[in-house]
Amino acid sequence: MTDLMFKSEIQDLIRDTYRHLSDDRPARLLQTYRDEDLALLPGEAVAWSFGTDDPVSAAELQPGEHVVDLGCGAGIDAILAAHRVGPEGQVTGVDLLPEMCRRARRHAAAAGLPNVTFVEGEIEALPLPDASADVVVSNGVISLSARKARVFREALRVLRPGGRICVSDMTLEEEQLPQEVMLHPAAWAG
Ligand SMILES: C[S@@+](CC[C@H](N)C(=O)[O-])C[C@H]1O[C@@H](n2cnc3c(N)ncnc32)[C@H](O)[C@@H]1O
Repeated sequence: MTDLMFKSEIQDLIRDTYRHLSDDRPARLLQTYRDEDLALLPGEAVAWSFGTDDPVSAAELQPGEHVVDLGCGAGIDAILAAHRVGPEGQVTGVDLLPEMCRRARRHAAAAGLPNVTFVEGEIEALPLPDASADVVVSNGVISLSARKARVFREALRVLRPGGRICVSDMTLEEEQLPQEVMLHPAAWAG
């Protein structure tokens, strides 16, 4: 049921939320990331991080791999992935919001990484070819989608045979919340 509801309402609320965030954000202390990884990141990328954990470390990336980051935001995980896959590897971050893609490009440039690109798009309809990636990562994004089954179908479509998916997110059983919350777009977007 939830796979089909309120897609545009939720996306409008997400757009509104991120558009109204101030550029002047304080640096956050991210306890989910290792200190040596935080040291690789421009301060602004850390300040603009909104994930729930550290999927890139868990993905055990190898040099030369192609990684796709679903809902890359301001680029923190894509930048860390680009360091790990090295110059022979490649990272593609996908985000709904053009302003988040612009921020991510700025942060990747500040980190001196030419092997990461950011494209505007929906994780439910990835603007990427079939069987083109080795690993899909995502951090705090799939919970925002009203079409989760499509997100996973798309992730499987872009992965090569034997590819890996590594996701960090909030999870919830539908029975855990009253209907009026489950059916409220703002609760989903929040
Ligand atoms: C909670 S933030 C997480 C950002 C990033 N993964 C991080 O760890 O900082 C959610 C991000 O997902 C993006 N997003 C939400 N729904 C999306 C969708 N359906 N398709 C693509 N991006 C989406 C938002 O624009 C936002 O940048």
